[in-house]
Amino acid sequence: MCGIIGCVGREDDTLDVLVHGLSKLEYRGYDSAGVALSGDRVDVCKKSGKIEDLKGALEPRSIGGAAGIGHTRWSTHGPPTDANAHPHLDCTGDVAVVHNGIIENYQSLRDELVAVGHTFKSDTDTEVVPHLVEDALADGADNEAAVREAIDRLDGSYAVAVVVSGDDTIYAARNDSPLVLGIDDEDEGRPAYYLASDVPAFRDFTDRVVYLADGEFATLSADGWRVSDVDGNAVDKDVDTVDWDPEETGKSGYDHFMLKEIHEQPRAIRQCLRGRVDEMAATVDIGDLGDLSPTGVQFVACGTSYHAALYGANLLRNAGIPAQAFLASEYATSPPPIGDALVVGVTQSGETADTLSALREARKRGARTLAVTNTVGSTVARECDHELYIRAGPEIGVAASKTFASQLAALNLFTLGTTRVDGKRDIISALRDLPSNIQAILDESQAKAVAETYVDSDAYFFIGRGLQYPVALEGALKMKEITYKHAEGFAAGELKHGPLALVTEDTPVFAVVTGDGEMARKTIGNVKEVEARNAPVVAVTDGQSDVGRYVDAVLEVPETHPQAAAVLANVQLQLVSYYVADELGRSIDKPRNLAKSVTVE
Ligand code: F6R
Repeated sequence: MCGIIGCVGREDDTLDVLVHGLSKLEYRGYDSAGVALSGDRVDVCKKSGKIEDLKGALEPRSIGGAAGIGHTRWSTHGPPTDANAHPHLDCTGDVAVVHNGIIENYQSLRDELVAVGHTFKSDTDTEVVPHLVEDALADGADNEAAVREAIDRLDGSYAVAVVVSGDDTIYAARNDSPLVLGIDDEDEGRPAYYLASDVPAFRDFTDRVVYLADGEFATLSADGWRVSDVDGNAVDKDVDTVDWDPEETGKSGYDHFMLKEIHEQPRAIRQCLRGRVDEMAATVDIGDLGDLSPTGVQFVACGTSYHAALYGANLLRNAGIPAQAFLASEYATSPPPIGDALVVGVTQSGETADTLSALREARKRGARTLAVTNTVGSTVARECDHELYIRAGPEIGVAASKTFASQLAALNLFTLGTTRVDGKRDIISALRDLPSNIQAILDESQAKAVAETYVDSDAYFFIGRGLQYPVALEGALKMKEITYKHAEGFAAGELKHGPLALVTEDTPVFAVVTGDGEMARKTIGNVKEVEARNAPVVAVTDGQSDVGRYVDAVLEVPETHPQAAAVLANVQLQLVSYYVADELGRSIDKPRNLAKSVTVE
């Protein structure tokens, strides 16, 4: 996810402070970085790759100025190149901009600006901003008014920071993307002010912060800071003090990245849906992918992504499209794709060797390929014919959490956008409700208490049917990865065909039962089978069925469409695994023997 740092009021070390701030934002994941300083002119240096690459590019140059902004970019529009790295400049080179988020109307703005003679140097949505500021300046606006005019034109999510040559001020605005000010004016000496997407970027310099709200505009100069509303009226802001240890701030106060990422799921889903669904019209816009009209689909994926693929295949079959999911490492033995079938690789990292190899095999077999991935510019995105980004933001914890939720959301978009599935309006509205429903679970979950009750168990089993079967598999994978305890997921109906022999009073069974239809009734039958063997049962349920009568504990999820229910049930299971692992003192973010990106077959 992109990161922003800015500072004013430092005597001679503005650049050092910016580079330090960028290094503190590295944990968010990024693929390029850059800085802009404004003095008599605006000086910019930016580089794809790591902060070390940026430092290398800075070394031979003397770049200085009283106000500076910096950025770590995680690609969403255009690959990670020097040109696409932030800051972006206008045609005159006098206005520099960094931006987090997605500008939904950037294409129409860009067309408009090109038509009146602006030249663009990058593929990014961000670059429209400096050109809009340039136009407003040319029309006679002062610097602040010009930035405000530009911001007014943007739809979408943004945290934006702007510097203009000859002006030692940073102008900033936010909508749906975090921005926080750092205030260092209490000690003797010259005051300094900071701006960042995340407190860690300036936490080494001050612990006094002002959080901007959506729609607010900030100006920072050596003379002070000011926050105003969209109409320019001053807003009275509290200055808070953060008491986090600077070393821990990357986790924003969470004990582990995984817990932070579990809590980021509402935001990740919003990002995935943004600009792609129209609830009023009941339509989904996934660009050219909407024209794919596959007659059959094969999914290839590994691990958690394979569970998402199983779910995706189920969605497509429900929409009348023959679809199957294959473990990528077994794809060579699968039946060849038929006709103009599409082969879809689901991969968070975009670098998983097994998945890349299966997709290469699919291409040899003459299939068209689509990458469903989190990583712009990844090998899978470069090699496939088409790509659909899940936009979850970087995931630091080795065990996948928010990216699974975003994969499920993206696969819903794919199904809605390419098929004539019934009940589109209901599905879209359930997708729209996902962020608030996930938040309700995060706020009220009893998963910690359940984890404490069953932490000493011998093994854990997970059962589910239909769309909840992949969730059962994912629940078990998460449990084994981060707790190192034995865990298995089963299709609920399969228990009695063998695994039931493993069930004892020391093996809790997590049953995912949502809705009150035939699937739920049958799974309740399976719950009774394990209950009769004295196994403790925990139901993850929306309360529509009477499963609660037969179980030892209930983890509730809000009632919703069955396709969204899978995402919700998974959140409860993620939390259970997390808290069991935490009780056991495991290395949650970096489980033994595992890597985030598996680049060998
Ligand atoms: C599980 C996990 C792995 C990955 C798998 C595929 O928590 O993270 O099972 O899902 O290695 O990785 P990607 O999605 O990057 O292809």
